Amino acid sequence: MGRGHDKLKRLMARGTEFLGCDYAILGGAMSWISERNLVSAISNAGGFGVIACGAMPPELLDKEIAATKAMTDKPFGVNLITMHPDLDDLIDICAKHDVSHVVLAGGLPSGKAIDRIKQHGAKLIAFAPALALAKKLKRSGVDALVVEGMEAGGHIGPVSTSVLAQEILPHVAEEMPVFVAGGIGRGEAIAAYLEMGAVGVQLGTRFVCATECIAHENFKKAFLRGNARDAVPSVQIDPRLPVIPVRALKNKETEAFAAKQREVADLLDKGELEMAEAQLQIEHYWAGALKRAVIDGDVESGSIMAGQSVGMVKREEPVADIIAELVEEAAAALTMRAEQPA
Ligand SMILES: Cc1cc2nc3c(=O)[nH]c(=O)nc-3n(C[C@H](O)[C@H](O)[C@H](O)COP(=O)(O)O)c2cc1C
Repeated sequence: MGRGHDKLKRLMARGTEFLGCDYAILGGAMSWISERNLVSAISNAGGFGVIACGAMPPELLDKEIAATKAMTDKPFGVNLITMHPDLDDLIDICAKHDVSHVVLAGGLPSGKAIDRIKQHGAKLIAFAPALALAKKLKRSGVDALVVEGMEAGGHIGPVSTSVLAQEILPHVAEEMPVFVAGGIGRGEAIAAYLEMGAVGVQLGTRFVCATECIAHENFKKAFLRGNARDAVPSVQIDPRLPVIPVRALKNKETEAFAAKQREVADLLDKGELEMAEAQLQIEHYWAGALKRAVIDGDVESGSIMAGQSVGMVKREEPVADIIAELVEEAAAALTMRAEQPA
């Protein structure tokens, strides 16, 4: 253990204490992908795995948490989507299993959901898409934040990770733990965000080609072939239908999504759909398209959600090797910076 490792440990200390793991590296929840195998492997390797509940009904989440617990005695979290119709039941399932950390994604969480999670004693992590919202989330009782930029895979906001980090970290990082996500592919970037005040990071794309990850081999091959410029955001084709963009590798599905938007916009026009239902339909569409690619291996008509760091995914390898490499790179970067002459 050299100086770089010591410094890394120090910079991550609040994060590791908050999460209860060795490295403050969260495996960002990925629908269909972040299930028992990947989640337990990340936690067993010293990171912090997070189950993606996505569109799962409560019974399935119940089984998934129990199965994950059977594969690791380390802490892990559960990611719930705020717009899930059974959110209350899902929160209760987490409580039943004493899940230590709940991540709420998909929009600002309601006070009711926050209270319910806190009453059960779990630590609550939420996404802060802007400084004002970060402060609001803190006031509402959220324990830690993820600041995720548009380089990330999956649903994205409009602002880059580097800008969000500069905007939010100096004002919030001292008061609560903040994890940075989006576009992180190497340890040097982890070191940089830690030096800016983050207590840890969250990565998704880098874990997709882990040996333990159940994603179909076609999905993994697409990642191994993909470059940063291939991971593009979906385009909103109708201004009346605000859809959250999704970053994925370019394929035929990109066009199918335009057609789906036209279909839903048409139903909105005819008054056959309410806006909330229209948006839910779009979300179901994504869940289905992602499943086709991840589980069935249909990487033509399915959605290959991937972040811009996809170009840094070089091989299929065990989670422990991915984490060890990230840690070594971060420690080396910190050593180098400490040794640079003034
Ligand atoms: C295939 C895929 C699926 C994802 N699904 C979800 C999800 O269901 N819920 C969520 O909060 N984030 C989801 N994400 C975002 C990740 O949790 C994570 O924040 C993101 O991947 C971090 O950025 P990176 O991809 O640049 O590492 C997904 C990302 C990917 C690549």
